[in-house]
Amino acid sequence: MISRVQCRLFHAAVRLLKKTPAEQRWLSRQLQDPFVKSAQQQNYRCRSAFKLLEIDAKHGILQPGISVLDCGAAPGAWSQVAVNRVNATGSDLQAAVGSVVGVDLLHIPLLEGAVFLSHCDLLDPKVKARIQETLPGGEAQVILSDVAPNASGIRELDQQQFVELFLCILGLAERVLSPSGTLLCKFWDGANTFLLQKQLAKLFGEVKILKPSASRKESSEIYFLARRFRRS
Ligand SMILES: C[S@@+](CC[C@H](N)C(=O)[O-])C[C@H]1O[C@@H](n2cnc3c(N)ncnc32)[C@H](O)[C@@H]1O
Repeated sequence: MISRVQCRLFHAAVRLLKKTPAEQRWLSRQLQDPFVKSAQQQNYRCRSAFKLLEIDAKHGILQPGISVLDCGAAPGAWSQVAVNRVNATGSDLQAAVGSVVGVDLLHIPLLEGAVFLSHCDLLDPKVKARIQETLPGGEAQVILSDVAPNASGIRELDQQQFVELFLCILGLAERVLSPSGTLLCKFWDGANTFLLQKQLAKLFGEVKILKPSASRKESSEIYFLARRFRRS
């Protein structure tokens, strides 16, 4: 008699055999990743939810009633966390009701409590105007950015694209982030990290660099947590 677990392992092994070596490495890493399993069990759209959950648990950036802008939101795991934490569906009758707006180049599947701007390029100035129109009162108290460019494999080019996106998010913050607001923004650690940290320090009262445990050790991704925005 084959157990359900043995059956699942068998199918995973068959799936593995049909893949290219790169796909096999990716799939075997996914099958062994505890955050992938937890995401499935807890109905999160992807494992990245645990990065935001950990950062929020340690640094308390999301509260009921606030307005959140989620940049690079697809498939929507960070927005799931944000909707829950800011009480965007109003499910907690005792708490203030917040809002979540998500933006991505890709389609973001519907999520109760969130407004999504799919197929929108953050680098497009018209998109910035649309974001501002969509945010309640044209402002967000927290901007989350998990935006990552498609990696070309050429390190310098990828870094340059990341810098461009980072500066774009900073421009967006200057436009829509509330005074004293918070920005959580992904970056690939490298030659530009210190410069960008200095740039953030000009605009925010406090800047930290975080590496949550759900962020893979072999990945160069880091997160800037910038608080107490000084709006000019
Ligand atoms: C790591 S994923 C985000 C995962 C998301 N935080 C979640 O939890 O579901 C990065 C996203 O950034 C988006 N992205 C990259 N460049 C973008 C751009 N110029 N404008 C909008 N979204 C962009 C990608 O399409 C991708 O969906």
